[in-house]
Amino acid sequence: MSTVLVTGAGGYIGTALVPALLEAGYAVRALDRFFFGRDLLPEHPRLEVVQEDTRRLTPAHFAGIEAVIDLAALSNDPSGELFQEQTWQINWQARAGAARLAKQSGARRYILPSSCSIYGFQDPDTLADETSPTNPLTTYAKANEKAEQDVLPLADEAFTVVVLRQATVYGYAPRMRFDLAINGMTYGAYATGKLPLMRDGSQWRPMVHVHDAAAAQIFMLQAPSDAVNGQLFNVGSAANVYQIGPLGELVARIVPREVEVEWYGDPDHRSYRVAFEKIEALGWKAERVAEDGVAEICERLADGSLEKGQTSITLDWYRELMRWHRIIKEVEMYGGILEI
Ligand SMILES: NC(=O)c1ccc[n+]([C@@H]2O[C@H](COP(=O)([O-])OP(=O)(O)OC[C@H]3O[C@@H](n4cnc5c(N)ncnc54)[C@H](O)[C@@H]3O)[C@@H](O)[C@H]2O)c1
Repeated sequence: MSTVLVTGAGGYIGTALVPALLEAGYAVRALDRFFFGRDLLPEHPRLEVVQEDTRRLTPAHFAGIEAVIDLAALSNDPSGELFQEQTWQINWQARAGAARLAKQSGARRYILPSSCSIYGFQDPDTLADETSPTNPLTTYAKANEKAEQDVLPLADEAFTVVVLRQATVYGYAPRMRFDLAINGMTYGAYATGKLPLMRDGSQWRPMVHVHDAAAAQIFMLQAPSDAVNGQLFNVGSAANVYQIGPLGELVARIVPREVEVEWYGDPDHRSYRVAFEKIEALGWKAERVAEDGVAEICERLADGSLEKGQTSITLDWYRELMRWHRIIKEVEMYGGILEI
């Protein structure tokens, strides 16, 4: 049985991926700062939980590890702009460092879950594939590209490196994110009857369900090295490439109430249509479409198993943690507040 180190295991994708890995028979070392809570992963005899910052990894974190799935990151554009220095450190340097340590420690495989946002803006008449020029527009996208450039050259016969450029993810996971397009539209429409749409609606965006994203990562753990080593793969499907305006209409049709569109933001300059033939040629295919994600989120909101908690808007939660950190540092004495 091989052990997989998952960094960022307490995040949105991680809390879907870890149970899927356990189900597939792997042992998992789940490493995270756990900014979004420590109780979102299942108790399991094959699960080891490690609280650590990826900027402080040591060879001991990789002892006995066969493969690494390196999810830990500040995970969106607004967080990347507010915390630029930390985004370079965590999303680029710490991931390059993790890949080097993995290789030195004898791990056999390293998977970098990067992002299709690296394509930034592309001519709407063309489909970006893995050979297309990149056009990263934000600190988040640029840091992903730097990480890709540093980890790919580590590939050799003994060490398989795979980069997955994931489409924007949607659907339910225990660490829920309502700051992702489909999830946010669904919540707004369901809870208030107002569906938030980012101007001007013509922008193209590929999407992928969180269980399909996790499945693609597991697929890459198992794919023959000579078919994937040192390569990039877009993760998504043609059926999940949407223009934001029509996507909003699709969401509105599924949410079980009257819905009106509420436009927000300046016109979004990120627009990219992406091709997924390369990963499909290997035999992996996304199984879900947006309708599935919208329906499952509505069902969970209706039965009370999902609420919009404070942690579900990533940037707001990081800001809140920083605010409380300042307050606590000011009032803490002798290691406590009232109890000392
Ligand atoms: N969600 C998407 O739509 C999407 C799309 C493409 C790529 N990605 C990439 O997939 C990865 C996971 O995304 P997500 O949606 O699960 O994000 P997330 O914010 O839910 O999860 C990130 C996790 O990393 C942890 N973390 C952050 N900094 C850390 C540090 N320095 N040390 C240890 N842990 C740290 C956080 O506590 C969190 O649990 C990210 O690299 C993201 O860029 C996500």
